Amino acid sequence: MKIDQLFSVSGKSAVITGGASGFGLAAGRALAMNGADVTLIDMNADALAAAAKSLADDGLTVATAVADVTGKEAIRKAIDDAAACCGGIDILFANAGISGGPGFLQTDGSRNPATQIENQSNEVWEKVLDVNVMGIVKTIQSAVPHMKKQGHGRIVVTSSCSATKTEVFVGSGYVISKAALGHLVRQLAHELAAFNITVNAISPGPAATNIAGGRMKDPEAAKLFSRYIPMHRVAQPEDVVGALLFFASPASAYVTGAEILVDGGAVLGIAD
Ligand SMILES: NC(=O)c1ccc[n+]([C@@H]2O[C@H](COP(=O)([O-])OP(=O)(O)OC[C@H]3O[C@@H](n4cnc5c(N)ncnc54)[C@H](O)[C@@H]3O)[C@@H](O)[C@H]2O)c1
Repeated sequence: MKIDQLFSVSGKSAVITGGASGFGLAAGRALAMNGADVTLIDMNADALAAAAKSLADDGLTVATAVADVTGKEAIRKAIDDAAACCGGIDILFANAGISGGPGFLQTDGSRNPATQIENQSNEVWEKVLDVNVMGIVKTIQSAVPHMKKQGHGRIVVTSSCSATKTEVFVGSGYVISKAALGHLVRQLAHELAAFNITVNAISPGPAATNIAGGRMKDPEAAKLFSRYIPMHRVAQPEDVVGALLFFASPASAYVTGAEILVDGGAVLGIAD
């Protein structure tokens, strides 16, 4: 097969949650540029409108839907509408996620009493698990009936290198939420394989997106995190596109339950 067919997403219906920003927007741009019919879903209506406009300025048309992935009815309606308008759901990028606040160390190496386990807020834990785990579950639950009906589907989940390694500057609830996603992907890959639906994960490292108030866009923060990354830089949103096109296209037809780390080697150990 020629490489352009092997990685083709042309004519496919693709839905992306968290599509207004960061990895989701980069994914939407890449899929639309390569001929997919893209629906961006996000809870932030203003950011979603700005995202659609920035794509339109580049000659790319996408559909949009405002929905919070933690609301089962809202996400189901957004996905049903996308399926109705685009003839099904071939590709689901379940990507929306939030930060779980700061980690147990501050960047100067000191310990903030408020972020030690005995003092951590249960509300923060519950919120990050609700969005990052249950939001992904509800998103997948909404897309699977369409995929079963059409007899195929590609589900790609945004996890994190935090699913594999522990973190000092990242809140524990976030780390645990991503570890849960790692096994969710394997479990659902097993369950859905018989329906010709693959489920895979992309696990980025620290990236210059808008998560956590866009802290990785701050050159000082990026420099600090880069010290722990063998490739000596944080990720850019576009860095996930190659892995996404692989999981979304014929190239990965026999790949399920897999994870691609897009982390500049962050899980490998201390940087030189
Ligand atoms: N940026 C990083 O350092 C990093 C590293 C590893 C993994 N990730 C993961 O990447 C994914 C995308 O995050 P990003 O870094 O692009 O951040 P981002 O903040 O730039 O984009 C996330 C988008 O998700 C939306 N969103 C958040 N909660 C939502 C909800 N409940 N319902 C619908 N939309 C919601 C936000 O409005 C935002 O537009 C997340 O799952 C995140 O955990 C990020």
